[in-house]
Amino acid sequence: MLTVAVISQKGGAGKTTLAIHLGTAAHASGLPTVIVDTDPQATASRWGKWRAGMDPDVIDCASYGLLPDKLAALDRAGAAFAVIDTPPAADIMAREACRAASLLLIPCRPRAFDLDAVRTTAELAKASGKPTFVVFMAGPPRGSVLYPEAGELVQRIGLQVAPVMLPERAAFHHSVAQGKTAFEIEPGGKAAEDVARLWEWVRKHASEIASKPASTVVA
Ligand SMILES: Nc1ncnc2c1ncn2[C@@H]1O[C@H](COP(=O)(O)OP(=O)(O)OP(=O)(O)O)[C@@H](O)[C@H]1O
Ligand SMILES: [Mg+2]
Repeated sequence: MLTVAVISQKGGAGKTTLAIHLGTAAHASGLPTVIVDTDPQATASRWGKWRAGMDPDVIDCASYGLLPDKLAALDRAGAAFAVIDTPPAADIMAREACRAASLLLIPCRPRAFDLDAVRTTAELAKASGKPTFVVFMAGPPRGSVLYPEAGELVQRIGLQVAPVMLPERAAFHHSVAQGKTAFEIEPGGKAAEDVARLWEWVRKHASEIASKPASTVVA
């Protein structure tokens, strides 16, 4: 089972938005997927209830210590992809998610305070030794100066930038309020394209990581 953890110690960075869009895109592409919610705020779980039975399943796992067994059970039950949403600040849950995942994604707005706050999350990610990428979220769709500068800062922190971002689009917040995703309410829209490209990249990257022995994976 490919397992990706979405982590950020900063509140409101876009963790849940990223996790539910990736999970739903993965499921729609034919990979049996679960979204695992380790956040006591239970935002992803509530969104899952609003979907009224539509896939993918959102599994609540907000108590420390349960995640490894829960993931093993999901794997045995046939899940091929798990995306773990984590809480801000509670680094004990994020640490557990980092241990369980083979790829870590850190959503971050391409803004000075947000980029600065990535340092704390970066320490957590580095301690896990897992390949980690920052995904720029909710920034302007274009930014010929902004993104190169933000990317440089991320690299100085010692992390890599994912080649696909989810910029500010109304469909991302309109959709979740209806228990849907951006590509479910606007299938041909720009947000749908962004998510499809991001999922393609994650699928390829996570599969490459899974196929390599741990010692050859560059974090
Ligand atoms: N690309 C985007 N375009 C538009 N709005 C976005 C985008 N990404 C995130 N948002 C909005 O930003 C807000 C915070 O996002 P989200 O809840 O996903 O963050 P979070 O990191 O999970 O927060 P928390 O730390 O509280 O769990 C939400 O209102 C969400 O709709
Ligand atoms: Mg959240």
